[in-house]
Amino acid sequence: MKVVECKALIRTFVQGDSKITGLDHVDLDVNQGDFICLSGPSGSGKTTLLNAIGGLDRPDVGSIKLGDHYLEKLSKSELAELRLKNIGFVFQAYNLVPVLSARENVEFVMELQGVNSATRAQLSLALLEEVGLKGLEDRRPAQLSGGQQQRVAVARAIVSKPDLVLADEPTANLDSHTAENLMDLFEQLNQERNITFVIATHDERVIRRARRKIYMVDGKIAKDEQVDAA
Ligand SMILES: Nc1ncnc2c1ncn2[C@@H]1O[C@H](COP(=O)(O)OP(=O)(O)OP(=O)(O)O)[C@@H](O)[C@H]1O
Ligand SMILES: [Mg+2]
Repeated sequence: MKVVECKALIRTFVQGDSKITGLDHVDLDVNQGDFICLSGPSGSGKTTLLNAIGGLDRPDVGSIKLGDHYLEKLSKSELAELRLKNIGFVFQAYNLVPVLSARENVEFVMELQGVNSATRAQLSLALLEEVGLKGLEDRRPAQLSGGQQQRVAVARAIVSKPDLVLADEPTANLDSHTAENLMDLFEQLNQERNITFVIATHDERVIRRARRKIYMVDGKIAKDEQVDAA
């Protein structure tokens, strides 16, 4: 089953008199259960593609189907709603709310989704335990290590039981051990919950764990290969 279908995406950024290529005729199908690494030189369009798939940015031309929805047909608020329900985002800079504890950061998303407070409390504790943060629920981001903060961000990303997690350089701020642990967690979520992952990264520690490797150059997909299980 296809989770994402991108057809003929073009995204050009205009800066002064010059036009900068973001995406140049990108076609991409993401299948349910995929564990994809998106790599390629800096400026090759990885973030632009993730942002387009996640509905954070609109391509100039082309079509993106996410589940049953064509993103180009949705309004901004419909896009926001779809994002909240169906997509989990994990960024390089964790993007946690500094004044909230780990559990409050996770519960905050559920609050936006209209989940009642008893369920919020129960679910946030369960999710934080699942990502290995039992006992640290009441700490604020500044009281957690980088890896622990990234785990809070992962718990927050999967709170809505998304089909798809989009991660942009999720290990860039993590030491090797912590990066491997994060990849273990992603793999576990992929295998046990059948969550599809698209991870943009330069990190060799991430790339070698991919089961599908997509390589971008100059806004185009230059290579797309399935990796056989070891
Ligand atoms: N908002 C913007 N305005 C102008 N140019 C942009 C904008 N966003 C991206 N670009 C340009 O589009 C191209 C693709 O950028 P993108 O961020 O997708 O690259 P990337 O592959 O994610 O790179 P990196 O590995 O450095 O994160 C680059 O040339 C970049 O400078
Ligand atoms: Mg990028």
